[in-house]
Amino acid sequence: MDSQITYPELADLQEEIDDLETSEDRIEFLIELGQSLPHFPEEYCTEENRVVGCQSMVWIVPSWDGNVYHFSASSDAPMVRGLVAVLMSAYSAKTPSEIAAFPIENVLDGMHLKSFLSPLRSNGLHSMIKRIRDYAESKQSSNNGKGTESTSPDRSKEEDRGPLLARIEQIRADFPILNQKNQDGLAIAYLDNAASSQRPQSVIDSISRVFSEHYANVHRSGHEWAVKSTEGVEASRESVRRFINAARTEEVIFTAGATAAVNLIANAWGNLNVGPGDEILLTEMEHHSNIVPWQQLCQRKGCTIRWVPIRSDYTLDIEQFEKMLSSRSKLVSFTAVSNVLGTINPAKQLVQMARGVGATVVVDAAQATPHGAINVRDWDADFVVFSGHKMLASTGVGVCYGKRAILESMPEWQGGGSMIKSVTFGGFTLADLPHKFEAGTPPIAEIISMKPAIEYLESIGHERVMEHERLLADQATNGLLAIDGVRVFSPALKLKSGVVSFAVDGIHGEEIARVLDGRGIAIRVGHHCAMPLHTRLGVSVTCRASFYLYNTPDEVTRFVESVAHAVKILK
Ligand SMILES: Cc1ncc(COP(=O)(O)O)c(C=O)c1O
Repeated sequence: MDSQITYPELADLQEEIDDLETSEDRIEFLIELGQSLPHFPEEYCTEENRVVGCQSMVWIVPSWDGNVYHFSASSDAPMVRGLVAVLMSAYSAKTPSEIAAFPIENVLDGMHLKSFLSPLRSNGLHSMIKRIRDYAESKQSSNNGKGTESTSPDRSKEEDRGPLLARIEQIRADFPILNQKNQDGLAIAYLDNAASSQRPQSVIDSISRVFSEHYANVHRSGHEWAVKSTEGVEASRESVRRFINAARTEEVIFTAGATAAVNLIANAWGNLNVGPGDEILLTEMEHHSNIVPWQQLCQRKGCTIRWVPIRSDYTLDIEQFEKMLSSRSKLVSFTAVSNVLGTINPAKQLVQMARGVGATVVVDAAQATPHGAINVRDWDADFVVFSGHKMLASTGVGVCYGKRAILESMPEWQGGGSMIKSVTFGGFTLADLPHKFEAGTPPIAEIISMKPAIEYLESIGHERVMEHERLLADQATNGLLAIDGVRVFSPALKLKSGVVSFAVDGIHGEEIARVLDGRGIAIRVGHHCAMPLHTRLGVSVTCRASFYLYNTPDEVTRFVESVAHAVKILK
């Protein structure tokens, strides 16, 4: 390609378009501008050069001179040719990092052309920009051997605001449900947060706004509501990306929850990569959703699961973990935080060890994200899964983060609308990430609720959330241990989250939970979807109080007193 192709200066175009008054004038300007695009040879009009996602035919051909990119481009639609010309003026003769950093949205806004841009996959301008940025990013990755460094999560909001307890009433006021009373008029102490959290008003409002202001299906139509809904979904994706510090939004796949995310991995990745003789390493403290999909994979593929034990102090036996790793370990998966013990596993260290034998690593972060941001790039895991409903967002939404290369290497799992580029009577071609793994209409309002949920957590700061939970967990643990016959299944305080599971000798957990419920205290009793762990602990069920950012020391006092009361009357 002729790398000497030149395009008009962007500033000149900006000036010209600024003088135009109406949309119609601007359309005429674009059509005229399109006619001035340099000659584009016929042989460049190939499928490979075509930009998928444009309704018209658009081709972009890059050429790299060792320092900057030059582009040649064309379209079969007159107005689109004008937009192509604007993009060429904006992006040609720039380095990859200049392209990545170029504020094209602002430029288009300044030229009154922003309405041509929407996040719809069928939006041509969006697809063209994405194609150009992808070229730049792939060059950056090949230069520095890793993905594009997008900015780390914004931690600037975490300036010292003092302990969360000082603002607890203000925080509780954000959660309308906490004003509810039980049937006897008692305030309800909701201590079942590890199962599902409550939602602040901002999250409730965001869901309500979707349905009362702009609900429409996403990534399809181009009308105003559809665009707003699509923008909402994509803004949430960006929010999640920042929250987990993923390199790219394409690595954030929305699923129905953590369970659906593990199933996606076990099927799409597992079916392709695991076979007879291979081993899957799991820990004894996994939730069923990080067990059963792997057991199903073993049934399909003839691989076996090995269980990394826990120690008597309820932490993971890391020495055993290391010993059990071998070249047969195809996949390693562990929970970042146990939903029963509260144990926080050293995710980064475990990933590094698993990497040493070339295993693929899945981290179950369902009990980690409620307490604040995680850093998937620091962990370096291949996959990280979590659910929205445990972290202040709606039910029905979760995330499967995957490194781009591995997601690209995987076949699709479910088929249907949205996950295709094209379908013919003879077959189909796959959509790009993340849509390849998002078949069908997604849970739109639920996904949109992720953004305010994340913003709420960020406004408090994850250190504060964890510190507060530990304070309450400590108070609860000490109170419970003072009651005769109570056993608490918890590691040392600094190694755990705000989950306190316990059993009382000779009394069934169900009865304790019932007494507590009568006193307006909501805890969970059962195996908490971790039956193998309970077998290991030697109990069939445990009672679990799980604290969150809106719980108070008074609630913990009520809880401990009620357990003591239950033990007294039930023994
Ligand atoms: C550690 C852990 N992993 C996975 C899950 C599954 O989450 P979901 O039911 O939202 O898919 C849970 C839910 O309790 C959990 O605690």
